[in-house]
Amino acid sequence: MSDTVTLIDLFGGNESAPVPDPYSVYDRLRVESPVLKLWGTGYEGFLITRHADVVKALVDDDLFSSKANHAGIGFVIGRTVIEMDGREHTKHRQLITPYLAPRALRGDLPGRMEKIAHDLIDRFVHEGRADLVEAFTFTFPLRVFVTILGLPVEDYDQVHRWAIDLTRVGSDPVAGMKAAHKLGKYFEPVIESRRREPTGDMVSQLVHAEIDGERLTNDEVTSFLRLLVIAGAETTYHLIGNAMTALLRHPDVLDEVRANRELLQPVMDETLRWEGPVQLVWRENVRPTTIAGYELEAGSRLLLSIGAANRDPAVFDRPAAWDLRRDTSAMLGFGQGRHFCAGSRLAYAEARVAMEALFDRLPDLRLARDGRSGIVGLAFRGPEYLDVEFTPAPRAVAV
Ligand code: HEM
Repeated sequence: MSDTVTLIDLFGGNESAPVPDPYSVYDRLRVESPVLKLWGTGYEGFLITRHADVVKALVDDDLFSSKANHAGIGFVIGRTVIEMDGREHTKHRQLITPYLAPRALRGDLPGRMEKIAHDLIDRFVHEGRADLVEAFTFTFPLRVFVTILGLPVEDYDQVHRWAIDLTRVGSDPVAGMKAAHKLGKYFEPVIESRRREPTGDMVSQLVHAEIDGERLTNDEVTSFLRLLVIAGAETTYHLIGNAMTALLRHPDVLDEVRANRELLQPVMDETLRWEGPVQLVWRENVRPTTIAGYELEAGSRLLLSIGAANRDPAVFDRPAAWDLRRDTSAMLGFGQGRHFCAGSRLAYAEARVAMEALFDRLPDLRLARDGRSGIVGLAFRGPEYLDVEFTPAPRAVAV
């Protein structure tokens, strides 16, 4: 394989079309070119595919800076934890993590999440057939998140449209920038009013959070909210979609999990390994270094493929198989090191509530014959469609 290729050379199609299966390419790269120079809008840099190399870059945050995330996402959403290093990162992370930690997820949140899940299922439960992505997984996590932020529920559709445009900034930068601007304008009065009169929601908590006598500025809160909206919109929905795809393809395992809900944790962890929603993260080496024998000048942009690392046969036996008995402790679905996903607890909680509601309400859920399904994507991976069938049932509540 040549030393410099474009994304199209590697995966075929074009840069905005979803990639059906990057894994066969990753299998080849791990062996032949574990550090590969890549060109193509948004994806310039050195693609790293071996588990050991990806972990090294995630964990050694003195050498590998997260400022590379500025070019990927920071230039659109503003400066946030995701592109910070060292003490600045520690401080911002301390300000935000209490609001996403397990204790913040207790109280009435589980009940509110369940209600959102059941209300969505009520819309299609009588039909006997649905595209689970459109009817449920796509909309559930952001609805939960709008609730956590304390935004009016009627604003949900608009916030979701902006969130979608933000996540597609790589293929449509103009729409992404517009959405970032509009979200900023939308949050301005919300932030102002929560500064004057806190209401206990997450925006109120963020504007009043204090460390060493310092508070986040309005701009910092706005940028962070943009990051959270993306995280709320594009990631957990794929975790639910990917896990349901795996379960529906393994009906015997689905029955086991229905009967023993403790298996939901291994379902989520193995899905995060097998088809993680977030596949690529960016770093930049601040000093010259060598990875897999390849010399990198200081300031090289690295694309760490956590998707490829999660299927590295040096770490995971039969990596393409989705297997609940596997030890997933080395999986990198939420990253590793100081930038480990701050929302992982929320993502697990949401995915658990979503799947339990589906199991409880749709007892004979199965893939639709001749239906559309299949996980796609490069930076983010999830199903575009998940056509399912089930015995129609009456709605539980009025819609
Ligand atoms: C299944 C769902 C999710 C997946 C797979 C996921 C994955 C990731 C990954 C891989 C990173 C590391 C990025 C890096 O190292 O550069 C990350 C960071 C982050 N995630 Fe998530 N995420 C998910 C859900 C969420 C949710 C629901 C939230 C919050 C609402 C969230 C908030 C964050 C934040 C704030 C960071 C930055 C942490 C830091 O830089 O210190 N994530 N996520």
